[in-house]
Amino acid sequence: MADFKEHLLTIISHGTLSISIALGIKLGIFDELANFSEENPATAERIAEQLDLKPRYVFEWLSAMVCGDIIEADKEGKKFWISETKREFISGSKEPIFALNVLIPILGEEHENVAKVFKKDGPPSMTFHSNPHMQEVGHVVVTAKHGNIKKYLLSDYLPKLGVREKLEEGIDVLDVGCGVGMQVLELAHLFPKSRFIGFDLSDKSIEQALKHKNEKGLENVEFLCMDAKEFKLEWDGKFDLIISFDAYIHMVHPEQALEETYRVLKSGGLFALTTLDGTDDNSYDERKSKNLLATLTYNMGLYQRKPEEDLNKAVNRKKVWTRWPSGLSLCTPKGEDSIPEVEI
Ligand SMILES: C[S@@+](CC[C@H](N)C(=O)[O-])C[C@H]1O[C@@H](n2cnc3c(N)ncnc32)[C@H](O)[C@@H]1O
Repeated sequence: MADFKEHLLTIISHGTLSISIALGIKLGIFDELANFSEENPATAERIAEQLDLKPRYVFEWLSAMVCGDIIEADKEGKKFWISETKREFISGSKEPIFALNVLIPILGEEHENVAKVFKKDGPPSMTFHSNPHMQEVGHVVVTAKHGNIKKYLLSDYLPKLGVREKLEEGIDVLDVGCGVGMQVLELAHLFPKSRFIGFDLSDKSIEQALKHKNEKGLENVEFLCMDAKEFKLEWDGKFDLIISFDAYIHMVHPEQALEETYRVLKSGGLFALTTLDGTDDNSYDERKSKNLLATLTYNMGLYQRKPEEDLNKAVNRKKVWTRWPSGLSLCTPKGEDSIPEVEI
């Protein structure tokens, strides 16, 4: 029982640590702290002054980070720095799992709403896009995940799709649930002869996407605010390539969106669905094998849609919904059976 008590203490302590990490990311404290080292450590006053914060709060926060094994302190507990080995994770360039902490306070904001979704007569799913902070999170996490988006697209994503030549020649591309358009903007810049459309349900995201488009002076990309449950009629068979990053799992009507996706995909075209790793619906095995990651995935999954119907039947496809495969799943156009999966 002592072990279990310790386990419970770890849960509550790490829960608070996660929220404080999110606070540090939001306030820019980690970024400021990254300017210091063991040889040149920071004081709370110095950091507070740089960021225009209250020193006492900064001190408490730094102390929490030390006790939580995130940063280092001198023997007096008054000077602070990030160790060399942790720096690259904390800066977020390699480790989206650090940036993911920003999601925790937002899940908290949605506590009441998710409780309603659980109820039999409640709404079918969360509608995260209506949370004003959600786009920010998407941005932080995607940026952390892909580091340099251009490098990721060129050296990782596109070679797996095998469509670079076609993009260079000029094709029609659609990004479903494009958010602020990070990927589609970069692709439009890289492939000026191709034509790109990105759409999203969130008007705030589309506003941002349009702002970026204008800043970059791109003529070959268009952004629309619309719901994926119904694509434009005139798009029938229009797109050579349809891409999507972590969007279908957030949709209230993914089955309709998938039907619509296949409707607007050109014969012989490619639908590249990039999404998060799924769970296996066997907690007995997962507890042994994946453990912490499975805990995280199940808990976060509560805020994503759990369809009651089998969406594989709805779209007549295997592996499109029931088990979101890790990384990138390449879905061939309607009429073909094989769906190759590629790890990213
Ligand atoms: C996790 S974000 C991913 C955004 C973007 N693809 C990226 O990688 O940064 C999920 C996106 O799906 C969008 N979304 C959710 N339901 C949608 C729907 N029915 N139609 C269009 N977009 C939707 C949300 O507004 C949100 O921008």
